[in-house]
Amino acid sequence: MKLYDVYPLFDINIVKGKGCHVWDEKGEEYLDLYGGHAVISIGHAHPHYVEMISNQVAQLGFYSNSVINKLQQEVADRLGELSGYDDYQFFLINSGAEANENALKLASFYNGRTRVLVQEKAFHGRTSLAVEATHNPKIIAPINANGHVTYLPMNNFSAWEAELAKGDVCAVMIECIQGVGGIRLVTPEFMKGLRELCDKYDTVLICDEIQCGYGRSGKFFAHQHTGIRPDIITVAKGIGNGFPMGGVLISPKFTPVYGQLGTTFGGNHLACAAAIAVLDVMKQEGLVENAAKVGAYLMEELKKFPQIKEVRGQGLMIGMEFEEPIKDIRRNLLFEQKVFTGVSGTNVIRLLPPLCLSMEEATEFLKRFKEVL
Ligand SMILES: Cc1ncc(COP(=O)(O)O)c(C=O)c1O
Repeated sequence: MKLYDVYPLFDINIVKGKGCHVWDEKGEEYLDLYGGHAVISIGHAHPHYVEMISNQVAQLGFYSNSVINKLQQEVADRLGELSGYDDYQFFLINSGAEANENALKLASFYNGRTRVLVQEKAFHGRTSLAVEATHNPKIIAPINANGHVTYLPMNNFSAWEAELAKGDVCAVMIECIQGVGGIRLVTPEFMKGLRELCDKYDTVLICDEIQCGYGRSGKFFAHQHTGIRPDIITVAKGIGNGFPMGGVLISPKFTPVYGQLGTTFGGNHLACAAAIAVLDVMKQEGLVENAAKVGAYLMEELKKFPQIKEVRGQGLMIGMEFEEPIKDIRRNLLFEQKVFTGVSGTNVIRLLPPLCLSMEEATEFLKRFKEVL
């Protein structure tokens, strides 16, 4: 059977990882400034992570959500403490798109409405309503184009105010740092204004922290740079350091109802073991603080390169925009300098390294980057 060919691939087979490095099948070592698309949070093959998952699978890999699973509460306790949201409720699923589907579903159950506002260039996933909320007509199938979503310019407060004032908006969904959209940041004023309007019109404010959250921005959540608290926060990617997992943090104003939400695999024992290990390591090794420190250093140094038109970002979520397409720079970084990076569109290189990236590794990246410019 052939694989369904949806990804343009680099001819590299990665077989091993450790910290911020990966190796291909020929034994070639690469510096990982991409983290497998912002997924590797605590580093590849962290010993605590390996031990927790290995022990758990030897004990019990899975049982259903019809019985108590104390590991879920352990994840929630640790996450509440580390993120500052211990008064919120937590629902576990398997991916980012699923987290956003459930967030929007909750919002609609809450206020009975069906309209959603998102930013231009938003990316919220590839399923049903999540893909409709993604500002890319090429990936929205006719069956998903149901007219629920209005795309609005980021930080243009009056445009959002005009829509919210209609009083029929179910939810506003925001990436405080847009990933796929090119590492663009919301302003604190914009978010404070949105918070007020959402309260006024009983609209649910959702922050999609799937890429920018979980320590990546140098605070636990990217919206914590703006001084607001959303009603719902969605997480995935870094939560399991590669174990497929997503989560929804839900404000106390939502009352759970049996049967409204559910999942077979979400919050299973193995996934929880992975998530607990991630939060342990983030706390013990101060990875949120590390992301802030190493990210600030990288941004400062990158701003000195005259070849880069603009450097944007926060913590270890950094975009470098060039006047010209960056395809060759990225290829040369990968094949000549052995460095993995990401992209946004044609002209932006996106850095999403594991949060344990050291100052030495950051300096090494800058050295190799200089070689290809
Ligand atoms: C901001 C954001 N939301 C949602 C998603 C979808 O997550 P998943 O691919 O796990 O469904 C992504 C994935 O890139 C993302 O970056």
